[in-house]
Amino acid sequence: MNVGLYERIWMWAAAAIIAVFVGVIAVSTFAYAVRPPSHAETIAPAQVLADPRFSPPGVVVDAGGNVEVHVVLLMFAFLPAEIRVPAGRPVTFRVTSADVTHGFQISGTNANTMVLPGYVSQFTYTFEHPGEHLVVCNEYCGLGHHTMQAKVIVEPPAGEAGR
Ligand code: CUA
Repeated sequence: MNVGLYERIWMWAAAAIIAVFVGVIAVSTFAYAVRPPSHAETIAPAQVLADPRFSPPGVVVDAGGNVEVHVVLLMFAFLPAEIRVPAGRPVTFRVTSADVTHGFQISGTNANTMVLPGYVSQFTYTFEHPGEHLVVCNEYCGLGHHTMQAKVIVEPPAGEAGR
């Protein structure tokens, strides 16, 4: 069969594009998919409430003023269910699951991560304004999935409280 030169070039180009696409899917599936988007820090799911990184869950401010929030998700609750953070400062959320896959989405923001058992999901977000945000689980995790919620209360920066 006689295939013209240009046609042959386009056939190889199309095959190369398909190979690249399949490669991207394979890498994202096998190298990235089954862990949180942040990093590959592991934790024993059955032991999270005894693990020093999460016991007790809550808000921690270190000597340097860095704010860290440690949250444990389990069927069907967030620990803690009420999270108080200051406005105008970066807040690092460290989130893990004690049982199945959950989601951690702070409404009204783009803060959102999958929470996989066995891993610690982490992201940093700065709340510009004081206020209240609903936190929802956005991965179906069982019969009580729709009841799983918490809130983030963003307080005025230190020094302005109580004015
Ligand atoms: Cu937890 Cu849905």
